[in-house]
Amino acid sequence: LPSFADERTSFHFQPERNWMNDPNGPMFYKGYYHFFYQYNPDAAVWGNITWGHSVSTDLIHWHHLELALVPDQWYDVEGVWSGSATILPDGKPVILYTGIGHTDFRDPTTAWLESDGLWRIAIGAKEGTTGLALVYKTSDFLNWTLQRSFLHQIAGTGMWECVDFYPVSLTGTNGLDTSKVQGNQLVKHVLKASLGSNKHDYYTIGTYSTDLKTFVADDPTRDVGLGLRYDYGKFYASKTFYDPAQERRILWGWANESDSQLDDIKKGWASVQTIPRTLVLDHHTGSNLLQWPISELDSLRGDKVVKQDILLDGGAMLKVDGASGAQLDIEVTFKYPDVQTLDVPLEQKECVCSQGGAAQRGVFGPFGLLVLAADDLVEQTAVYFYLTLRPNGKWMTTVCSDQSRSSLAKGIDRTVYGTSINIAPTENFLSLRLIVDHSIVETFVQQGIACITSRVYPTLAVERDAHVLLFNNGSESIAMHTLEIWQMSNA
Ligand code: FRU
Repeated sequence: LPSFADERTSFHFQPERNWMNDPNGPMFYKGYYHFFYQYNPDAAVWGNITWGHSVSTDLIHWHHLELALVPDQWYDVEGVWSGSATILPDGKPVILYTGIGHTDFRDPTTAWLESDGLWRIAIGAKEGTTGLALVYKTSDFLNWTLQRSFLHQIAGTGMWECVDFYPVSLTGTNGLDTSKVQGNQLVKHVLKASLGSNKHDYYTIGTYSTDLKTFVADDPTRDVGLGLRYDYGKFYASKTFYDPAQERRILWGWANESDSQLDDIKKGWASVQTIPRTLVLDHHTGSNLLQWPISELDSLRGDKVVKQDILLDGGAMLKVDGASGAQLDIEVTFKYPDVQTLDVPLEQKECVCSQGGAAQRGVFGPFGLLVLAADDLVEQTAVYFYLTLRPNGKWMTTVCSDQSRSSLAKGIDRTVYGTSINIAPTENFLSLRLIVDHSIVETFVQQGIACITSRVYPTLAVERDAHVLLFNNGSESIAMHTLEIWQMSNA
């Protein structure tokens, strides 16, 4: 039987009790990071929605404050829904949120200031089955004019929730203030929408025309809802903000539970926020973002185990001694296998994570890590690579997070998540970083090219009975190059 106490996280953002969903209005104000969130003060299920409020000086250690916004006006009797904060030039914050949100019109973005002296915000909406972002302009945040043209729209994507829109630098790794974009050719814009239809956050990179006030994706085949996701696991309704203290853009995302609503009621809480991530444009490709846990997380790193240069023969399964625990930060690199010298016939089949998960047998993979693994492996969460040769002669790297054997408990969503990533054999290394915190495993692939967040509920593989293993289910050997595992303290 699950012990719900083992499921609560130790360094992820969670209110003390009850239901939480979207991150709202994150900002840096007078020396403090403020974080608001959709919150039900009365129960561990969605309802009675207010804005919870917490503050921090490092985005890791939080003080919970009283509710910031409660439904006390005619226009928010149905709940104070999602919204964003904008810091005005005089330093005052303005918060916009959704009042009556049952129509397909909600979740205002942070405002940006254009050269005509007017502020603009985007709001998600839909027309028929076309998802879209509207733009409103204002000089005073009280009187608003709807712009005739949409910021962007994509047929068939349905309602766009929690739209986000911000610049990224083409030259540097610093983040950019949402307003600091005028006439600057050295930026790209990112447009993100959370698709209510499949509960995933899709982003695309493109150009914002300050003349036409519209956005065009660089690659129409990877437009909003068609291509890139921030995260290939459980991650929704995310929102970024610009942190002027460290000149970076930070992404917050909501990780819902994978257990049943009844379990949430029994444990008295539901949902966590993922560790805030810094976001930069991948200057190598120019066509995707790189996400990485904020560096403040490193302050929780304690005892460390290091292993180097271990050859994992086909079928290998190796327990990492001294690295047990349910609060870990793990970084591992593997040498990209010497695929060219292969003389065994290869099945030219693409890896689909959900078909067989980590138990598949391939040539190069699955290989990777088992975390939160019980002694006899009856519980285990696998994160792994799988390389396949495509009919076009190119190697494809797939990365998966397999929850199918993560828990003996019943009533849990055990979907295997994953995605393929573009890695040329010339890159030499494949790397993973895993943040393990009781009921959440966040995976960062290849320095942040892709992320996979999963929620897991081990019943035996808890605390010191939760182990880490290296494994290789392929027929060819894989060389593990470096493995570092830190025990993580409570926040
Ligand atoms: C996204 C969302 C938003 C809405 C809020 C209500 O998860 O549906 O569109 O404002 O949650 O809690």
